[in-house]
Amino acid sequence: MSRFVIGPTDFELDGHPFRILAGALHYFRVHPELWADRIRSARLMGLNTIETYVPWNLHEPRRGEWVADGGLDLGRFLDLVAAAGMQAIVRPGPYICAEFDNGGLPAWLFRDPEVGVRRSEPHYLAAVTSYLRRVYEIVAPRQVDRGGPVILVQIENEYGAYGSDKDYLRALVETTRASGITVPLNTIDQPTPQMLADGSLPGLHLTGSFGSRTTERLATLREFQPTGPLMCMEFWCGWFDDWGSHHHTTDASASAAELDALLAAGGSVNVYMFHGGTNFGLTNGANDKGRYAPITTSYDYDAPLDESGYPTEKYFAFREVIARYAEVPAEVPEGRPDAPELTVALRPGPSLLDVLDGLGEASAHLDLPTFDDLGHDRGFAVFDARLDGSRPGTLVVGDEVRDRAWVLLDGEPVGVLARDAHERAIALPRASGDLTLVVEDQGRVNYGTRIGEHKGLIGGIAVDGEPVRGWTVRPLDLDRVPGLELVRTEESGATSVSGPRFATAGFTLEAPADLYLDTTGWGKGVVWVNGFLLGRYWRRGPQRTLVVPGPVTRAGSNELVVLEFEAMADASARFAAQPDLGHTEV
Ligand code: GLA
Repeated sequence: MSRFVIGPTDFELDGHPFRILAGALHYFRVHPELWADRIRSARLMGLNTIETYVPWNLHEPRRGEWVADGGLDLGRFLDLVAAAGMQAIVRPGPYICAEFDNGGLPAWLFRDPEVGVRRSEPHYLAAVTSYLRRVYEIVAPRQVDRGGPVILVQIENEYGAYGSDKDYLRALVETTRASGITVPLNTIDQPTPQMLADGSLPGLHLTGSFGSRTTERLATLREFQPTGPLMCMEFWCGWFDDWGSHHHTTDASASAAELDALLAAGGSVNVYMFHGGTNFGLTNGANDKGRYAPITTSYDYDAPLDESGYPTEKYFAFREVIARYAEVPAEVPEGRPDAPELTVALRPGPSLLDVLDGLGEASAHLDLPTFDDLGHDRGFAVFDARLDGSRPGTLVVGDEVRDRAWVLLDGEPVGVLARDAHERAIALPRASGDLTLVVEDQGRVNYGTRIGEHKGLIGGIAVDGEPVRGWTVRPLDLDRVPGLELVRTEESGATSVSGPRFATAGFTLEAPADLYLDTTGWGKGVVWVNGFLLGRYWRRGPQRTLVVPGPVTRAGSNELVVLEFEAMADASARFAAQPDLGHTEV
């Protein structure tokens, strides 16, 4: 049993000053069999605390349904932190941002027009309260004063960048305390006077988020947190990538110098990210500040520990800085080895349109529904209608394409409508025949006022000014893909992979190993290894390889299933020795 308090100058653990040297590590972005290894690497860098967000939308996929096992076993994750002799910080949101789908808020929240998110609106608060209670059932018994590792719990996330409803913050605190959370509570804000003022509450410890201009940021934070220790709760030592942009990196020595300045000033830190991991499946978020920018599958973040869990130059630079202020274990984690290299031919399989019956139930609608009307939270859906015009025509989406639509006529590809290019109209060779729209939700916006917006083809479809009516609609349940034998049927005589189409390959490994799947010659799609959905790939880059975590591979035969929506320049699967996250700015 220990006691953790915020004293007049320091955090204090059992009466002694305690400088928090934390690293952000999101359990939901790391394969659960690798959690212990990543925690150990954090300890070996000299960190004493692990920080994680909690993603509401994964834990409560449907209202009232609660998932907290396997890769979402927060309790086990915290127990592993304790077993490593470290402390923990939990940031349950309810909004987490984090470049995560919808900033962690469940899509179902936004279907009820009564719900007012991130403010003291009763319907929203009711949902939040039941969510937080479930989280705190896991966290409360693992607090430091009950023998566990948890020393701090955060209320909301950068709330001052969004709102200023103090009743809302107070309601979150009340639920938190009523659920048995006794450790100190903190808020986090970007250190501007307005955000610090709007995002905080008296009695909660204010922390900041920044990665540069440390002295200036600490001074601003000090104005709003006049006593106690100063903490950078998100020391941004790298940055995230979005598709179509460059791979973001920061100079290791410059970042280490900022860390040094922070520690020299007596500050506490949470390195964001210590280890970024991967947006496995379809969990990435997006930004939209005028151009929709979905986050890549990799969340490497140019963090000290790379996406596949190996130390980088930044790891050693940070370790050296930390050693000036604290004891650092002598041991270091092993460097990244070469992964097995192999190339196998892909076998073109059936068209997506030929296996739809195995991937979800169809329903009939007069007007085009959104994904949200269908209760479909993420991924893909297929919409069919019959056109009976006689001349060539123009298809127009009423409001916005969210986020990408492949247009087919009588099963033949016509073209693509892409949200990131602000496309809403496409010329059809003829306005008659079977119209099919394969639509992708590329990730819900995670920051700003566009969180929660509905997905699909917003505002309906018209051809030559006439609304198209009478739709057959099918949300795709991608979880069914691995079990669907049909996707393995070989398309006889096919030599190329043109989408939307499945392709498969088998490959053999001597032993389970981390792999880097090179998708450079592929178009746009999603890929599974042994039934595990790695995530999206896209020729736009910057990311060129996808991490296959060792625990999903096996000695002997392994299987790759690809769903390609566009076209592959090279119908083979190549595993590279090293990851390639693409071009950088300089
Ligand atoms: C903010 C948020 C984080 C993350 C970072 C950028 O600080 O609090 O969740 O989105 O920005 O990576």
